[in-house]
Amino acid sequence: MYIIGGTASKTIAEDLSKELKVPLAETISKRFPDDELYIRIMDDISGEHVVIVQTTYPDPNIIELFLLQNAVEEAGAKEISVVIPYFGYARQDTKFKEGEPISAKAMANLISLSADRVITVDPHKEYILDFFSTSAFSCSAITELAKYLKKKNVDMVLAPDKGALERAKQASQIISCDFDYMEKTRIDGTTIEIKPKKLDTKNKNVAIIDDIISTGGTMAKSIQELKKNGAKNVFVACTHGLFAGNAVKKLTSAGCNEIISTDTIKSKFSKVKIAPCIAPFFKK
Ligand code: R5P
Repeated sequence: MYIIGGTASKTIAEDLSKELKVPLAETISKRFPDDELYIRIMDDISGEHVVIVQTTYPDPNIIELFLLQNAVEEAGAKEISVVIPYFGYARQDTKFKEGEPISAKAMANLISLSADRVITVDPHKEYILDFFSTSAFSCSAITELAKYLKKKNVDMVLAPDKGALERAKQASQIISCDFDYMEKTRIDGTTIEIKPKKLDTKNKNVAIIDDIISTGGTMAKSIQELKKNGAKNVFVACTHGLFAGNAVKKLTSAGCNEIISTDTIKSKFSKVKIAPCIAPFFKK
């Protein structure tokens, strides 16, 4: 077995390599003068099971994944597993309006062409796994996020909406604390409403857990509500920290005490490693 880390996911590939005691294949990647990407795998991977690790965000990393898949196939690998820590385009998982693509399906179709197996982490909706024509699995970051939050003496874990309640419940079981959810209504892509809910958060350390922080709007509104209710410390934790635009400013201005995310998308908030959640798939 060999592991190949794409540019977006080098650290996760290294962590997996250590955890699974499997070598990392050496790759070269550079840009042609017109900015097209060149990649080359330097190790002999013919006849091997090769695990490619690459987040499909932002867009250039998608092309890199396709090229890596093709290079691995052309080199005669016996089996190809594709690990996508953050599956970009997964949120456009249906035609919300006539004329739109099902972007998650378009991505899944192309990735499936050169993969025997796909593994992703906390997809926005589990049913996107059915878009892959190859075997597709997901794993959850909750255990690792909860282990981190346990050290922060969290009294309560909240989901920012009812749909995410199961995630909050799982985290609360690891932390041994209460759990609940906020009442969120999405008005459009950038506007949401968080209705106050009767929650006893006074003087408590509260963690809000979500799959994604994008614009930060959901979390910022939730933090404001909790602070209004007298919460002592509010931690926000997510699997995928996109932190688009001024998301971080929004969170800190709302009174957030700490921002925590995994390293599926690398940022200064990637305090939780995702490799331990992925590794079990490859342990015999
Ligand atoms: C929505 O259902 C997701 O779970 C997240 O709550 C959402 O993607 C967060 O987006 P934003 O940070 O832009 O509010």
